[in-house]
Amino acid sequence: MTTPASTATTATASAGAAGSPGIPAGAPLPAGGAATTVGGAAPVAGISVLSAASASGAALSMAGRGGDTPAAEGHQYAPQWLELRESADAAARATDLLDPLRIRLANLPRRATGLVVHDLGCGTGSMGRWLAPRLDGAQQWVLHDQDPALLRLAIERAPRAGADGSPVTVTTRRGDIGRLTADDLAGASLVTASALLDVLTREEIEALAGACADAGVPALLTLSVVGRADLAPAHPMDQEIAEAFNAHQRASELLGPDAITVACEAFAQRGATVRVHPSPWQLDDRHIALTEEWLRGWVGAACEQRPELTERAEAYLRDRLAACAAGELHVTLHHSDLLALPRPTGGTS
Ligand SMILES: C[S@@+](CC[C@H](N)C(=O)[O-])C[C@H]1O[C@@H](n2cnc3c(N)ncnc32)[C@H](O)[C@@H]1O
Repeated sequence: MTTPASTATTATASAGAAGSPGIPAGAPLPAGGAATTVGGAAPVAGISVLSAASASGAALSMAGRGGDTPAAEGHQYAPQWLELRESADAAARATDLLDPLRIRLANLPRRATGLVVHDLGCGTGSMGRWLAPRLDGAQQWVLHDQDPALLRLAIERAPRAGADGSPVTVTTRRGDIGRLTADDLAGASLVTASALLDVLTREEIEALAGACADAGVPALLTLSVVGRADLAPAHPMDQEIAEAFNAHQRASELLGPDAITVACEAFAQRGATVRVHPSPWQLDDRHIALTEEWLRGWVGAACEQRPELTERAEAYLRDRLAACAAGELHVTLHHSDLLALPRPTGGTS
C-alpha cells in the first residue's frame, strides 16, 4: 500500500489452521409455503448494520452501509459478525473457480518463496482460512485491511499449512484498499477478497482492476451480493421491505449489487478473462443466529429508508424471527464469485 498510513506486520501463523467446517450448500426448502424472490434486478443485500433495540423491542438494527455485513460502527466490522458468517461463506464459495485458478498458479515461474497472495479487506482472515488449505505449496499471505483490530485477529487465526502441508506465513498491511497500486502488488501471485466488492465505489473497483492488470496478477473476488434474496415461506411484506432496502442501498455511493457487473467490465476491459459463478448463502435451521442478524439489518435498513414502515415492519420482523427460531425459515441470499485471469505475459502470471 502506498498510503503513508499503512503499516506492516509480519508473523508466522500460530493458530486456527485449516479451513472452516463448512455447511453443505443447496439445502432443501422447507416443506409448505412458496419461496418468494425479493429484489429481482433491484438491489436487496448490501447493508451493514449497527445493532440496536428498537423502541418497541423488536430489535431492529440500525443500518449502516456496505455488503450484507453488519458493521459495528460506520465502516468498522464487528468480528462477531464476521465469525457468524464464516461457515455460511465457506459453504457458499464457488469451488468451480478453483481448478482454473490452480492451473494458472501452477504455470507461474517457480519462486523459492512460494505463492504470494494478497487478501484485500481481509477482516479476521476467513478467506485465507478457506483458500490456503486448498492451494498446494508454500504461501505468503499479505492481509490488507483498514482496521488494526481485525488485522490482529487475522494474524492470531491465520492458516498454517497449504493443501500439501507446505508452510503458510502471514503479514499484514494496514491501509486503504482504494489507494492500492500495481507497485503494491509487485511479486504477487494472486489477489483475493471476500465480501468486499460491494462495499467499494466504482472508482475503487476500477483502480483495483487497473492495479491487477498492470501487475499481471489473477484475482479471485468472492461473495459479492447480487441483489436477490429468496425467502420461504413467503410473507406479504417481503417485497415492500425489499424495495425499501433497495432504495436505501441506492442512496449510497457504494456499488452494492452492481459491484459484480462493474468489476466484470473493469477486468474485461483490461484484457482479463473473467468467470463468474454463483455463491449463495443457504440459510436454514443450521444458521439461526446468522439469519436473525441478517433479518434485523435488512429490515432496519428498510425502516431507515422509509420510517413510515416501522410499525408494520417491526411486526414483520417479529414474525420472521419467530419462524427463524422455529427452524421454519429458509433464506437464499445470492452472491457471485469472480475469477479474473489476466492475459499471460510471460512475466509474473
Ligand atoms: C464485509 S467485511 C469482509 C471481511 C472478510 N473479507 C470476510 O470475508 O470475512 C469487509 C472488510 O473490508 C475492510 N475494508 C472495507 N473497505 C476498505 C478499504 N477501503 N480499505 C481497507 N479495508 C477496507 C473492512 O475493514 C472489513 O474488514
